[in-house]
Amino acid sequence: MDRHSAAALLVTGLTDGSVLELGSGPRGLAPLLAGRVRRYEALDRSPRATAALTTWLAEHHPDGAWGVRTGDLTDLPGQADLPPADVVVAVNVNAFWTGATADALAAVGGHLRPGGALVLVLETPDPVDARVRPALHAALADAGWRWQEHPEAGGPRGVALVARPVA
Ligand SMILES: C[S@@+](CC[C@H](N)C(=O)[O-])C[C@H]1O[C@@H](n2cnc3c(N)ncnc32)[C@H](O)[C@@H]1O
Repeated sequence: MDRHSAAALLVTGLTDGSVLELGSGPRGLAPLLAGRVRRYEALDRSPRATAALTTWLAEHHPDGAWGVRTGDLTDLPGQADLPPADVVVAVNVNAFWTGATADALAAVGGHLRPGGALVLVLETPDPVDARVRPALHAALADAGWRWQEHPEAGGPRGVALVARPVA
């Protein structure tokens, strides 16, 4: 299963409500989620990516419930007009296993509705980078999150998990 299909399957298994994709890139999960969930939002720090995604969504979902914005995921707390999400999803975004992971998880935790979940899928060209899984687990544990891996979705070249902040 490719990384986008894996992520979309996990997301739609959790909600048909409001979904925020972080680090969507120029297309992201929009073809798999827009129109299938009540609201699809995307946030990426690359203006080129968000411009391309906006163009695609405007063409394919002219009346759809979607939004695209440019910014860093750690700026989520400042996006007061962005409705809280039932699920936040990120595919191949390194911010959750390297760098300031606590900031990334705090931003996501503050944006989730009560009971909401974070879906993370990380896929590499070769067997999954040996650093990714332990670093991701450590980041989640340090931030007080619990998680469940989905090996059937991650496959041999990836990690796929659903995580929730411990209440
Ligand atoms: C490797 S690409 C993956 C794109 C897409 N999710 C996919 O799987 O095809 C990573 C994307 O995440 C975005 N990104 C990385 N760090 C980010 C951050 N801290 N805040 C917002 N976007 C970020 C990049 O601009 C880029 O578009």
